[in-house]
Amino acid sequence: MKQRIGIHALGLAIPRRYVDMEELARARGIDPGKYIQGLGAREMAVAEPGEDTVALAAQAARRALAASGVPASKLGMLVVGTETGVDHSKPVASFVHGLLGLPQAMRVYDTQHACYGGTAGLMAAVDWIASGAADGRAALVVCSDIARYGVGTAGEPTQGAGAVAMLVTTDPAIFELDVGISGTASSHVHDFWRPLGLREAQVDGHYSVQCYLDAVSAAYRGWRTRAIQREVIRGVGMASERLARICYHVPFCKMARKAHLQVRRCDLEDAGAPWDASAEETRGVASFREQVEPSLGLCARIGNIYTGSLYLGLAGLLDAQASALAGERIGLFSYGSGCTSEFFSGVVARGAGYRIAAARFGELLAARERISVAEYERIMALPPTAPLVPRSANADDIRFVGVTDHRRQYASR
Ligand code: HMG
Repeated sequence: MKQRIGIHALGLAIPRRYVDMEELARARGIDPGKYIQGLGAREMAVAEPGEDTVALAAQAARRALAASGVPASKLGMLVVGTETGVDHSKPVASFVHGLLGLPQAMRVYDTQHACYGGTAGLMAAVDWIASGAADGRAALVVCSDIARYGVGTAGEPTQGAGAVAMLVTTDPAIFELDVGISGTASSHVHDFWRPLGLREAQVDGHYSVQCYLDAVSAAYRGWRTRAIQREVIRGVGMASERLARICYHVPFCKMARKAHLQVRRCDLEDAGAPWDASAEETRGVASFREQVEPSLGLCARIGNIYTGSLYLGLAGLLDAQASALAGERIGLFSYGSGCTSEFFSGVVARGAGYRIAAARFGELLAARERISVAEYERIMALPPTAPLVPRSANADDIRFVGVTDHRRQYASR
């Protein structure tokens, strides 16, 4: 019998403060329509020094474990996907392992390839379970990042921060993956990068959008070929329409719309139909509204969280529609600048709605504080090691509190 592998539980951690995008646009002398409609952003999470990549990862991981009902003793692997780690040698995963008091007999490491790092971790966890090496144990995959381009840059409205943790098991109570069915696409491009020593990403913005679109075309076609061969999708018409929803990597929400129109274009052109841009203004946009927009709720209010952005989209989608989507197939597209990418898929589990509701994403958002642009700029100017007294009201709070003798220190409640 086919082994079932997928997401059993999800945990989310976000900074406690955010800026409103309309206010940010006005402060920059830009028409708010550009940020709100042009990019699709509403709010942007602002991480303080205490909310570093480790603290966010540990908090999300702790929440996923608590929601899962799986004891820590049943874990055999912890992978953190991140491109904003805190040390050149010691992985974020190692800090998380210690902060959560996880078992010694585990594989613990980070994976990095820009925003694809989390998917690299997820695929490693799936392979580890499928190979039999897991021996009945579960894997914890955490995606944690702080997206930072700098004040006043074109990338500024596409910043954000947060972590998504996924417990991967053979009892996928939330989302079962179509194991082995994916399409990949990679090329050596300088669309986005961050040289060692720099806190701010360097980006060739418009080129990065084109690199993403080239990647989604190739990866989607790879997935489609395998999905048809293995009869994961059946029926006539556009293959992308056989997917109930598609979650894309979301550097900003408008990117998901561009990606979706590109995927439809692949389907239409490969079927020999001419690309009719004006017809797609109606049909494609209607398809975007139904198949993609429901996944953008959390992304629009948090921003780009790099490795976690795709999974933030999935979490937001399931938070909004899990019960209605039970048994339905969802497509997922992961993109990491540089670049590598993967299109894959899975099926929403029955009962996922109940599990997602328990993760209380709405409460996490509601507990946040809106800050002024001046306060956001003050935070951006702080050195990364500025000490911060833990102040969050969350009972499960974890904070970075400073460096002693070159060792990072954390306070955990
Ligand atoms: P920009 O040049 O400032 O913006 O940078 P624009 O002029 O292209 O305008 C953006 C959109 O707003 C356009 O819509 C305008 O028409 C519209 P589009 O033509 O694209 O559909 N617009 C308006 N709409 C309504 N009312 C108005 C108005 N004015 C303009 N008044 C850019 C935009 C995304 C390039 C910039 O923000 C940037 O560089 N962002 C960072 C890079 C990025 O996010 N790239 C995405 C692909 S790469 C990726 O996803 C990987 C990544 O996550 C990193 C990783 O892998 O680790 C980034």
